[in-house]
Amino acid sequence: MLSWFAFVLPLVLLLALWASKPLFVRRTRTYKHAAQIRTLLNPPDLSLRSLLLARAQPNQRLVHAFGLTSTFVSADTKLHRAFTTRAKVLLAGAGEKNDRWWGVASSAEVAVHHFLPVQQTTDFSTFIQCVTFSVVLSTLFDTDLDTLHYDDLVYVTNVINQRWKDSKIKDAAAMRQDDSLRKMMAYIDEWIVDRHQHPNPLNFILPAYETMWRVVAVTVAYIYRCCDNTLQDVAITFGRNPTEAQFQAFDFGHNGLQPSMQAIVLEVLRLHPPTRHIARAPVASGSSWWHTLVAPAVERADIEAVHLSDVYGENPSAFEPMRFHPSRVPVGGRAELYAFGYGRLRCVAAAWAPMAAAVIAAKVVAQIKDAGCVVTVGDKIGGRSGWDGWAIEKGTE
Ligand code: HEM
Repeated sequence: MLSWFAFVLPLVLLLALWASKPLFVRRTRTYKHAAQIRTLLNPPDLSLRSLLLARAQPNQRLVHAFGLTSTFVSADTKLHRAFTTRAKVLLAGAGEKNDRWWGVASSAEVAVHHFLPVQQTTDFSTFIQCVTFSVVLSTLFDTDLDTLHYDDLVYVTNVINQRWKDSKIKDAAAMRQDDSLRKMMAYIDEWIVDRHQHPNPLNFILPAYETMWRVVAVTVAYIYRCCDNTLQDVAITFGRNPTEAQFQAFDFGHNGLQPSMQAIVLEVLRLHPPTRHIARAPVASGSSWWHTLVAPAVERADIEAVHLSDVYGENPSAFEPMRFHPSRVPVGGRAELYAFGYGRLRCVAAAWAPMAAAVIAAKVVAQIKDAGCVVTVGDKIGGRSGWDGWAIEKGTE
């Protein structure tokens, strides 16, 4: 028996090595510590091409779900440079109007005004999705907000949500059978005037909208759910003066020192990072014999878990924006957030997105008040789904 085993085992190992196939596939290896996450996302000895390949492989589902052709799904280094450069140009676009934030603030104001409930009740997450989608289209693509209709936006944002979820459980053929992508693109074709300039607008819409709407929704939700409503004043003051100085200001309110709008959004990104896990295919050590035998199918950085560690201060699972007050910097320095990734593929909008989300959230809060509407608070703060019980309603007076 032993001699049979001694003969067969090396044969199996040799076959596995010859076929370059892992023998014992562990489906996913998850990293929950900051140092491991930094190594996974920014390995020191890996070329940019390998880094892009490691990201592109787990993202192929986005090709089937949305027809993406961007750097998120490709190992091409030239495409990476062209795409990230173009994204930076689009993000800087609002700056052409002298004041960098004027474009975002005025788009948010118009969108909220358009979509606040004419009927008695509006679903909270649907409303935030439509407002955020409109602001993304208007600021990145110069879409005229008057051409956007609520029902069409509801359709498109629902399709994005549904296809995103489906892409995790359905294969390419099943995704192709569903005609919703073609129908959704018919709307987007009408909204984006310069299609020559933007041959595949979803390449930019998706990373921007899909993350931003959830940051806006969670920020607005905490403003209504937490701290005896004192955060509403912070949002309204910032909405009236959406400058970077006001974004960072810790002002005194009726109940003492208030968190800045920046601290509120950073706390939202810490507790509810929109990208909870960042996946990489293990291309790095693909040639070693050990890797061939035991490689995991995917390695992933658990951003949500690392953000809950006590390096961010006491009681890390509680929503406590004052932990970002300058007086609370721990002796070893403030721990960094990984909501925008880390290293060479870190998000190009890491500086833009927190302020933009804050501006949209502030305009939502201010206009809900001005229009005499109220927010009905649900039991839980949701993510892509899970917003049961949340609504915006017309006030009774
Ligand atoms: C709160 C909002 C956002 C969050 C949380 C976020 C998150 C992320 C994360 C985690 C990555 C790294 C992905 C990886 O390493 O695999 C990333 C990359 C990227 N994001 Fe964002 N993002 C946000 C908003 C935006 C916006 C508004 C844009 C604008 C178009 C954008 C464009 C990009 C691009 C182009 C990359 C790829 C960078 C590269 O390959 O070098 N993101 N984002």
